[in-house]
Amino acid sequence: MAASTKISSVFRPSLFKDKVAIVTGGGTGIGKAITQELLFLGCNVMIASRNIERLAHSADQIRNDIKPYNSRVRLEHMQCNIRNEEQVQNLISTTLTKFGKLDFLVNNGGGQFPSPAADIRLKGWNAVIETNLTGTFLCCREAYKQWFEEHGGVIVNIIADMWKGFPMMSHTGAARAAVDNLTKSLAIEWADKGVRVNSVAPGSSIYSETAAANYGSADIFNSYIPKVPAQRLGRVEEVSSCVCYLLSPAASFISGETVKVDAGASLYSTMWTIPDHNKLPAYSWDNDSSVAAADDDNDDSGG
Ligand code: ADE
Repeated sequence: MAASTKISSVFRPSLFKDKVAIVTGGGTGIGKAITQELLFLGCNVMIASRNIERLAHSADQIRNDIKPYNSRVRLEHMQCNIRNEEQVQNLISTTLTKFGKLDFLVNNGGGQFPSPAADIRLKGWNAVIETNLTGTFLCCREAYKQWFEEHGGVIVNIIADMWKGFPMMSHTGAARAAVDNLTKSLAIEWADKGVRVNSVAPGSSIYSETAAANYGSADIFNSYIPKVPAQRLGRVEEVSSCVCYLLSPAASFISGETVKVDAGASLYSTMWTIPDHNKLPAYSWDNDSSVAAADDDNDDSGG
């Protein structure tokens, strides 16, 4: 097994002692960082993903890594395709059977593929919407029905930087924007049951080995650096600390909110460049008779 990874947190190590969390997609990238920090803080964690071999390997690695810090916390893993209603129901019920309760749900599982919108086939579109939107909804609903409705709880949805649209990723942009809205609806509907629901939107400049492997190279990340006000890439641990904050009592009066973790990049710049073109010429007012007619209608000179 590889040498252990250092795990750390700015929060006190007993913050989540004896709590129980589900983290979907908790074996890789941002999800893995969230799992590690939760375990470090004393939380027992169930991680779930569609790819069981990769998840099992990652779970073994995380168990090994957490041992020097906390040998009492439990990490369980199980296969779950979040698009499948029955498998989601099973994820929640199995977690309750194994741990006896549920305090936190982190909806991090998701996926997409880069493509111009015009080339996305219906099957690909539906797959991305079902994973990122429907899967998140199913996990929220089942956690609520099986536990949170009676006992309260905290949900954090991981979305994306889609604030200026998401060119080349229009499917996931649409799904993530919908989860931002779902977050608000659930925060209101479930407030009276003691459930807080928030989202975290990592910027595209959060570097993870998983994301770099998906892109086929780390080069794309380096091209982002000048577009980030911090002039550096973000780390998955900087997303995880925000998630832990929102799960914690420090955020007890925060619900229905989405926190961007992007160092202000979404306010500052776009990763997208529009090619030179002249396909949108200036509007010509001279030849437009409807404008002249409207001017006549609005003539209130009283003459
Ligand atoms: N990660 C990416 N796609 C997923 C899915 N359908 N279910 C669970 N985790 C996933």
